[in-house]
Amino acid sequence: MRLRSQSYLDFNAGAPLHNSVMGCLAKFSSLTGNPSSVHSYGQELSKHVRKAKQQILKSLSQGSRTNEEEIVFSGSGTEATQWVWNAIQLSSQCQDELTWVCSEIEHKATLDTANRFAKCGYEVVKLPVHEDGSLKDFKPKPKHVYSFHWINNELGVIWPVEEYIKKIKAEKDTWVHIDACQAWGKEPNDLTRIDADFITFSAHKIGGLPGLGITWINPKIANKVTQPKTGTLNVFGILACAEASKHIASRDELAQLFRLQSTFEEKLKSMIPGIKINGETVPRVCNTTHFTITGIKNNLDLVMYMDVAGFAVSAGSACSSGIIEASHVVNALGYPKQDGIHSLRVSYGLTTTADELDGFVAELAKVVTPK
Ligand SMILES: Cc1ncc(COP(=O)(O)O)c(C=O)c1O
Repeated sequence: MRLRSQSYLDFNAGAPLHNSVMGCLAKFSSLTGNPSSVHSYGQELSKHVRKAKQQILKSLSQGSRTNEEEIVFSGSGTEATQWVWNAIQLSSQCQDELTWVCSEIEHKATLDTANRFAKCGYEVVKLPVHEDGSLKDFKPKPKHVYSFHWINNELGVIWPVEEYIKKIKAEKDTWVHIDACQAWGKEPNDLTRIDADFITFSAHKIGGLPGLGITWINPKIANKVTQPKTGTLNVFGILACAEASKHIASRDELAQLFRLQSTFEEKLKSMIPGIKINGETVPRVCNTTHFTITGIKNNLDLVMYMDVAGFAVSAGSACSSGIIEASHVVNALGYPKQDGIHSLRVSYGLTTTADELDGFVAELAKVVTPK
C-alpha cells in the first residue's frame, strides 16, 4: 500500500485544486456537447468559454485587457510552448534563416522542443547561466527567436524579462516567447505588460485542473501569426481555470508567503550544516526554496525518504535504475558530479503552514546531521 504524504510541498509541480473549483464544475455539470457546434447546446458552451476567457485574461492582465481573442488554449503549458514555436515557424518570413535561442535551465517543455527543432536542422542555441541561476549576458541578433522562462520552476529565480525583451526588440526580425507558467499567481502585476510576442501559462499552477495550457498572443503581432490548429476545447478545464484565476494570491498574501519563506530558510540554515540555498542572492519568488546539501549517505533517495516521512517534495534529481542524477538545472549551476550531493526543491502556497515547514526541517536534519 502506498503511504500518503501528509504535507504537500510540491506546488510548482501542480498546486492543489482551488476549493472553489469543484463547486464551479458542479454548477456547470449539465453543459453538454462541443462548443464548436452550431446548435443551442454548442452555443451555450461557447458562451461560457468566452466568458471564462475574459476572466482568465482579466486575471493575467490585472484587468487591463478585455479582448478574449488574445487567448488560445492548448493541452498543457508544454503544448503551449510547442504551439508557439510552431506558430513562429509557420509565420516567419525568413523561417529557414531563423536561429532559436533558449537557456540551459528552461523547463523541459522548451528544451525538448528546442531539441526537436535542432533535429530538424534548425540552428538552436542554449545560453548558459551563472551559479546563482541568473542568465549570463547575451547580445541579441536579428532573425533570432528567443524563448525564455520568466521564473525558473526549480530555483524560483525571477529573470528580468522586460529588460531582455527591450534589448531583443531593438534588433530586426526577432520573436520573443516568454514561458510564464511559474509567474501567474506569484508576480502580482499585469503579466501582459511585457512586450513579448507570446506568453504561455498552465492552469494547474494556479489551482485549476491539470491539462490546460494558455497562450497570450500580443495584439501587435496577431495579424501576422499563422495559428496551428488546436482542436476541441477542454471546456471544463477552461471553466475551472477561470474560477481558480479569481483567487490568485493578493499582494498581502504574497507578503505573508515571503515571511514564511524567510523563516523556513533561516531554520534550514541553522539546522542543516553546509546547506546552500540556490539563487538566494538574486530575485526569487516567495514560494520556492531550492537547496543543495552534502554529507548524505550515498544513494539515499531523499525524495522517497521525505515522502515516507510525510513530506512530498521534488528533487533536482531524476532517479534511474537506482542512480541519483542531478537535474539539468543543477548541472547548469556548475555543481560537481559527486556522490552525496543532493538538491531538493520545496515549493509551497497559501495553505502551507509554518508547522509543516518546521516538521520538514526537523526530518531533514535527521539524515544530514550525525547523531
Ligand atoms: C516553467 C514551466 N514551464 C512549462 C511547464 C509545463 O507545464 P505543463 O505541466 O502544463 O505542461 C512547467 C510545469 O512545471 C513549468 O514550470
